[in-house]
Amino acid sequence: MTDVGSRRHFLRSSLGASALAVAGTALPLLGGCASAKPAPSAPAPVPGARFAREGTFINYNEYPLGPCESAREALVEIIGQTGFYRFDLIQRFHDSLAAHLGVDAEQVILYPGSGWALELAPRVFTSAERSLVVADPSYEACEQVAKRMGTPVHRVPLLANGAHDLTAMCAFPDAGLIYVCNPNNPTGTITPREAIVSALANKPADAILLVDEAYIHFSEEQSVIDLVASHPDLIVLHTFAKLYGMAGLRCGFAVGQGDALARLRAMGSDAISVTAAVAAQASIEDQTIVAERRAYNSGVRNDVIRWLQARGVECTVSHTNCFMMDVGRPGKDVAAAMASHGVHVGRSWPSWPNWVRVSVGTREDMEAFKTAFAAVQEQGVLAAATACAPELRLCTAAALA
Ligand SMILES: Cc1ncc(COP(=O)(O)O)c(C=O)c1O
Repeated sequence: MTDVGSRRHFLRSSLGASALAVAGTALPLLGGCASAKPAPSAPAPVPGARFAREGTFINYNEYPLGPCESAREALVEIIGQTGFYRFDLIQRFHDSLAAHLGVDAEQVILYPGSGWALELAPRVFTSAERSLVVADPSYEACEQVAKRMGTPVHRVPLLANGAHDLTAMCAFPDAGLIYVCNPNNPTGTITPREAIVSALANKPADAILLVDEAYIHFSEEQSVIDLVASHPDLIVLHTFAKLYGMAGLRCGFAVGQGDALARLRAMGSDAISVTAAVAAQASIEDQTIVAERRAYNSGVRNDVIRWLQARGVECTVSHTNCFMMDVGRPGKDVAAAMASHGVHVGRSWPSWPNWVRVSVGTREDMEAFKTAFAAVQEQGVLAAATACAPELRLCTAAALA
């Protein structure tokens, strides 16, 4: 693993030609495949006038090119059937998905987005006596539910390399649910599979390990779905909202087994629309979408991160379609300044107030980002180079070398 942060301090102190040369050599630090293949063949979605909006939206980690071509064809074809329930098509998708994943059909629950499983899991596996354990910063969906329920929440800072500190996360004897987001939203950093295997062996006996792999397809990491067969306390979540470009269609799923999955299923199952089912079915049948979109995303991402590094801005080492950048002052001010230039970036997390999440859009989106960011930097909205920010536990010797 490399460090989550990259070489801001050296670059900030020497932004001349030598610094740019170092910025170039920093590229191997970036996650995933560095080769930039051409854009996927599917055309960018062109909304009708009724649905159009102004600006560049790189704020919610969506895949900017939408559903793949075969999914769009399926969507057009299904319109005439949407007056019927067509449970048969949802069942067909459920079974095909299980076969695609190499698990039994009863090990899968479909949801209208994996966010729905994140809404349910704390209700099922936590209580006033059984806590939720999360990383910080990470995706906050479970935590928000737990807070509404009055469940105790343990927040554990990410390690310096951006991985979840699973040793610390598994050390709470009252844990009911341990949430692991891998790759992590918002940092894009990876928690190695070995750490998850070890967590399964060392967690409190009856705690559930919930591994949210919403962004796994963008990375080179192997899913832990194969571990479900031998670990009844493991539940893995996936979504079609990210790499598959179906955020608005709402489709995700949980994979688990035994009592844990039965308890989750008792809260409801397979409540997805037939439109989502046929588009997702076409997506999993597409043999090229994952490799093609992963390569496109990592090429665009690595280019923009290298560009930011060259301007002295530290970024997390992302393996997915978002990263965080350290803007050296309250991130919300910078996000507002970017929005005034028509570029909508993500937000900051309370524990990292000076870092802003940026989603990776199309190459054109990221050119618009660069133009707006340069303008904001020139307006003096960004702070001048400072010493390592206190929350930046990530400035290791290697990063500063
Ligand atoms: C880590 C993570 N998990 C789950 C979700 C929810 O995805 P869905 O749209 O499938 O509900 C998101 C959405 O941003 C996410 O970032």
